[in-house]
Amino acid sequence: TPAASGIPAPDRTAVRVVAHRGSSAALPEHTLEAYARAIEEGADGLECDVRLTADGRLVCVHDRTVRRTSDGRGAVSAMTLAQLSELDFGSWHSPDTPRPSSILTLAGLLELVAQAGRRVELAIETKHPTRYAGRTEAELVRLLDHYGLLPRTPEESTVRIMSFSELSLHRVRRAVPAMPTVYLLERRLPVLGRTRSLPGGAAVAGPGIELVRRDPGLVTALRRAGHRVHVWTVDEPEDVELCLELGVEALITNRPREVLAQLGR
Ligand code: G3P
Ligand code: CA
Repeated sequence: TPAASGIPAPDRTAVRVVAHRGSSAALPEHTLEAYARAIEEGADGLECDVRLTADGRLVCVHDRTVRRTSDGRGAVSAMTLAQLSELDFGSWHSPDTPRPSSILTLAGLLELVAQAGRRVELAIETKHPTRYAGRTEAELVRLLDHYGLLPRTPEESTVRIMSFSELSLHRVRRAVPAMPTVYLLERRLPVLGRTRSLPGGAAVAGPGIELVRRDPGLVTALRRAGHRVHVWTVDEPEDVELCLELGVEALITNRPREVLAQLGR
């Protein structure tokens, strides 16, 4: 219960709704169309995964390879942006009504957000950063700087960087000390609860919903230790209710429209 953490749960309408890979239940994940839809639907923020191409560009792709979400084959890291641009990242989603779509670069996503005409938060996840010796984070910081998105204080930031990798979060914080970071976790770490700081010096803890269902006390313990909690991927109405009861600050969901409606927005 919220009372168990001793901290009042955020107001129901104040809970942030973040579109996971865009409005990705409705449209192919990580496409411009899926993100534009999420903005139209009123999502507070957009989540995306970033990977480095062979020619050092950041693209929005979840998997290591393009196989599941395009008509091509191969590792993202082994292909240039020009090669990725030849693939269709849309039609796999609904083969009966194919919607071709191109690879989305992080720059393309930042451009969309810049044109949104309202505040749109970004939750950017670095994938497998150990492989690139800091190049992912360096390029990320360079692009955010280009779009004027590097914060002077954590409070003013519309961007947060998420990772399962403590190393990646450290790199980001070293480059941009005011950048809010989210430490993602799939299982309870022995260290959590005994210390006030999160791995990677993160400001926010990001447990998966399976973990929260199994161990709701984890959220209470995190909040009691003063951490904010963002949960992924919250698509079921009962999971939304559970997160609200526990005082979760942000819900990362493939179904922003439905979750917003459930919150009365
Ligand atoms: O938002 C965090 C969540 O996306 C982490 O898991 O596998 O969907 O990137 P994954
Ligand atoms: Ca992700």
